Amino acid sequence: MIKTRVIQVDRDRPDPAAIDEAAQALKAGKLVVFPTETVYGLGAHALDSVAVQGIFDAKERPANDPLIVHIAHIGQVNQCAVGMPAGARKLGLSFWAGPLTMILAKKPSVPDLVTAGLPSVALRVPSHRVARALMEMAGIPIAAPSANRFSRPSPTTAAHVLEDLDGRVDLILDAGPTDIGLESTIVDFTVDPPVLRRPGGLTLEQIQSLVPAVVLQTGEGSGEDPQVAPGQMTRHYAPKAELSLYEGPAEAVIRRVAADVRSATAAGHRVGILAPEEDLSALAPEIAGRASAGRVETVPYGSRRDLERSGRELYASIRALDATGVDRILAIGMGSEGVARALHDRLKRAADGRVRTIVQD
Ligand code: TXA
Ligand code: MG
Repeated sequence: MIKTRVIQVDRDRPDPAAIDEAAQALKAGKLVVFPTETVYGLGAHALDSVAVQGIFDAKERPANDPLIVHIAHIGQVNQCAVGMPAGARKLGLSFWAGPLTMILAKKPSVPDLVTAGLPSVALRVPSHRVARALMEMAGIPIAAPSANRFSRPSPTTAAHVLEDLDGRVDLILDAGPTDIGLESTIVDFTVDPPVLRRPGGLTLEQIQSLVPAVVLQTGEGSGEDPQVAPGQMTRHYAPKAELSLYEGPAEAVIRRVAADVRSATAAGHRVGILAPEEDLSALAPEIAGRASAGRVETVPYGSRRDLERSGRELYASIRALDATGVDRILAIGMGSEGVARALHDRLKRAADGRVRTIVQD
């Protein structure tokens, strides 16, 4: 167990002394948690295998799950990757710094541990001021997965990081809640055509507007499970409670959730409902008695009218619901295209296959 220090930093004008301390720690092989615009990252010197091993130990992450390497600007790509296909360069020039990760052919200088033995490396230039200042000061590529214990939801606040990693990391830079709340979009450029491996903060439509060749992973959108690509695990972002995802027209879904809450509580379960705030208002009269009897807990995550806020709040809401000790979570989704695609992907993974598609009745 190591002593974890938390340093508060201003998200727009971080104190250079704090950034310098974090940069020195990274260069010395220590573990530093820092905010990005998506979620908090658990950083280590990407070219130092011993430091990188520390990430896997702290997270209890399996060694076959590769890490994303963070760089300060597109000019650093050649420290880690062998060239950039034209499409990747185009996306990098337009969307970096930002919530985009690109998979490219790796250079031997990147330890195999970082890429789980794959011949490719995932690279990203984050836009958060604190992350940028840290990378500029450190001058090294930084390997950083989300700063949660393996299979817990990604952290969007320093408090979430402490829940999972207190005593396991050296330093946490706390700059308040992150903006996007869902992890970066991952596009794989080692295959032709390039494939969207993980939907995220940047939409497929935004990407295709510049590089139309980018396609969805096979199986995606066809109702089947996406093909398992290296480093893509289905069970991820999982709460302790068993979560089921409900999709379909709002009114029909609300009626079904109300009915399922009644039968689950009658069967002795303590039930949590994760839903857009307007759906919770609609459900309130149906569940009032059970909620006051402590059988039902409700936590909103944003609104159907503001999907970006929903993304920002999702993981904090899952953690809050889990903390109430419910054993079942019924989650109401908000569609699966455009901005909702990433939200749907994370809920579907949390549901581990338990997706109920309700048709109008
Ligand atoms: O927004 C983000 O991307 C955050 C912040 C901290 O930057 N990071 C993040 O990292 O979400 P992580 O470790 O939670 O997710 C990394 C995922 C892996 O699980 C894997 O799916 C994919 O990136 N990945 C990394 N390298 C890969 C590679 N060479 N080939 C295929 N997939 C790769
Ligand atoms: Mg993660």
